[in-house]
Amino acid sequence: MTVVDSTPLQIDLRRHLRECDEDRDLTRLICEIADASKYIIHAIRTGELGMAGTSNLYGEQQLALDVLSDRIIIKRLRHSGVVANLVSEETSEIVPIDPENDDKFSVAFDPLDGSSLVDVNLAVGTIVSIYKGRNLLQAGRNQVAAMYILYGPRTTLVYSTGKGVHEFGMNSLMEYTLNYENMRLAGPARIYSPGGLRSKYTPGTEKFVRNLEVNGTKLRYSGGFVPDINQVLIKRGGIFMYPHLADAPNGKLRLLFELNPMAYLIEQAGGAASDGRRRILDIEPDCVDLCAPVFIGTQETVTMAEQCLREEEG
Ligand code: AHG
Ligand code: MN
Ligand code: MN
Repeated sequence: MTVVDSTPLQIDLRRHLRECDEDRDLTRLICEIADASKYIIHAIRTGELGMAGTSNLYGEQQLALDVLSDRIIIKRLRHSGVVANLVSEETSEIVPIDPENDDKFSVAFDPLDGSSLVDVNLAVGTIVSIYKGRNLLQAGRNQVAAMYILYGPRTTLVYSTGKGVHEFGMNSLMEYTLNYENMRLAGPARIYSPGGLRSKYTPGTEKFVRNLEVNGTKLRYSGGFVPDINQVLIKRGGIFMYPHLADAPNGKLRLLFELNPMAYLIEQAGGAASDGRRRILDIEPDCVDLCAPVFIGTQETVTMAEQCLREEEG
């Protein structure tokens, strides 16, 4: 007797990439990172919460989890056979793997974004930006893929290779299976995430936030870039900002490791990402540790932000 499996066909990450006719080496790379996330989950749940006793290239004290997550991913990428160069928020410079090989991929990543939230048990994530070839210092519009893994009450993975943006959930076997395909932002922003100190906002940003509040947009801010962006994507609308501040003209978030991959994903969902004046993905980085202000999410709301800044700050 044939037992017909009544559960819906679960499409796993590798199968989805294959059915999207994705490059085999890019598929391998994305799946390697997905596999690495399983070790990061274990590290988050059981690892040390203390300081590593070192600091990153931004002078920020590193947590043991930052360093451990970084090592887990670097080890997987180093042995993947498809990586030319890599750089992470936690390494001070570009790590050559097969540095002159333009047939491979180069990867910029934030191994554990929001790591300071682990000790208060809030959601954190891994953010990854992928370029074809050896050059990591190029505009974000040249990315061939971007992804993030969100370690929350559920573990989810979102990726795009330029053919839409798709969400996967981790099942009981620790496989990533498809939840949503080709997610698109729709309608006005109903939530907003205001990063940075409000007292340091410039007049244009202050005017923008007042407009949002008057329109009944609800404040939703966790302090973790990955869950805050994920909320905009899964709610199909919203705006996240970490603007230029009176004492930080470039804001706080890092172009290569945080802004470019999230801007790529949100644009693939029909949204927009701006530094307040220009498209994030058009910024040409001259160094790996460049920071930029960011307004990212529903396109019309990003446009409103740019307009407020033009009106108030020229
Ligand atoms: P990271 O933990 O990788 O250093 O990133 C933290 C970032 C980002 O997750 C979040 O949007 C931002 O820091 C929050 O900054 P504030 O604590 O200044 O709000
Ligand atoms: Mn980060
Ligand atoms: Mn980080």
